[in-house]
Amino acid sequence: MKLVTILGARPQFIKAAPFSEVFRKENEEVLVHTGQHYDANMSAVFFAELGIPKPDYNIGVGSGSHGVQTGRMLEKIEEIILKEMPDGMLVYGDTNSTLAGALAASKLHIPVIHVEAGLRSYNKHMPEEQNRVLTDHISDLLLCPTQTAVDNLEKEGITAGVINTGDIMLDTVQRNKEISKNRYADGAWLDELSFENGEIHRFKEKEYYLATIHRAENTDDDMKLREIFSAFEMMEMPVLIPLHPRTRKRIAELDIKLNNVTIIKPAGYLLMLYLTSNAYMVVTDSGGLQKEAYFLKTPCTTLRDQTEWIETLENGWNRLSPIVGTAILETVSRPLHCLQHPQPPLFGDGNAAEHICQAILKRGGIAT
Ligand code: UD1
Repeated sequence: MKLVTILGARPQFIKAAPFSEVFRKENEEVLVHTGQHYDANMSAVFFAELGIPKPDYNIGVGSGSHGVQTGRMLEKIEEIILKEMPDGMLVYGDTNSTLAGALAASKLHIPVIHVEAGLRSYNKHMPEEQNRVLTDHISDLLLCPTQTAVDNLEKEGITAGVINTGDIMLDTVQRNKEISKNRYADGAWLDELSFENGEIHRFKEKEYYLATIHRAENTDDDMKLREIFSAFEMMEMPVLIPLHPRTRKRIAELDIKLNNVTIIKPAGYLLMLYLTSNAYMVVTDSGGLQKEAYFLKTPCTTLRDQTEWIETLENGWNRLSPIVGTAILETVSRPLHCLQHPQPPLFGDGNAAEHICQAILKRGGIAT
């Protein structure tokens, strides 16, 4: 069987690694990198660390407005499909690259396989929500990470081709957490961090907050971004932020002062795993990091009004906070009772790559 797979942004690289390994044992995969993420520490580092095969095509789309970015990708992906004529198109997650891949294939009647189907925040202002709803509605095989995702699709009338395979990000975490520990334990993580400000001696195991902020809904709202950094300033432990380029730009534009906050460049996957498992708490607006924190049993505060990953909220492993300085402070200061609670296996068995592969092969020439 021959698939064309679309990758473009960090979370997709992480999901692709275990699947490509399993699928390629007996099948052909043509990898297309859209170039949505292009900086070395946003892209190349993941390919190197996770052993992702070299892309067969790189569209080099770069940055741009949603329409420009998605439109450019659509045009190029169509050309690639017509040249490769695959049996299916595989797309991951909810980025502009996901939608472009799904749309290009669907219009050419190539079956669309969506990994991480069925997630919903029910916030239509999020570009990710638009991307995932649209992608699900033109997909032929909808591979869901959780039962909640299966139920969400059913509510929209989508039941055909829906399978709960478990979450492929769990596969990647399980395969790499020991590797990460061996590389970064015993203080080696501190040598790896190129601090841009702040004091290294303030960072001790389980005595810092690890924060990531990159969602447009937070970075592009001056008030929200200021509220977030005002909360960071008041926190009782230092805050470490691997800084997304978008957020870096906004901080400079708004002249936000970094008090109690130390920034580093976006971290590779293995370092990020270590920083996450080692943190007292993760504070984030990322979707993927909420789950990685959960898998690594690190409590998380999510700086959003809703989450697609509602399972992580159970027993307080993850808490939502409105973007108001005092509310954020109150949320991160609550006691961590979650640490006493076991986690039910709501994200599958860590073999999602295998289940996804089986589901695709079983359906062979997926009905369109
Ligand atoms: C994208 C996804 C988001 C995902 C995130 C993971 C969409 C709509 N959003 O958001 O779902 O969670 O990736 O990180 O697809 N930039 C660089 N270098 C890079 C990449 C980006 O400097 O390698 C800067 C550019 O200024 C760019 C901005 O970051 O305009 C935003 O990048 P973009 O890919 O549009 O969206 P993300 O915020 O990364």
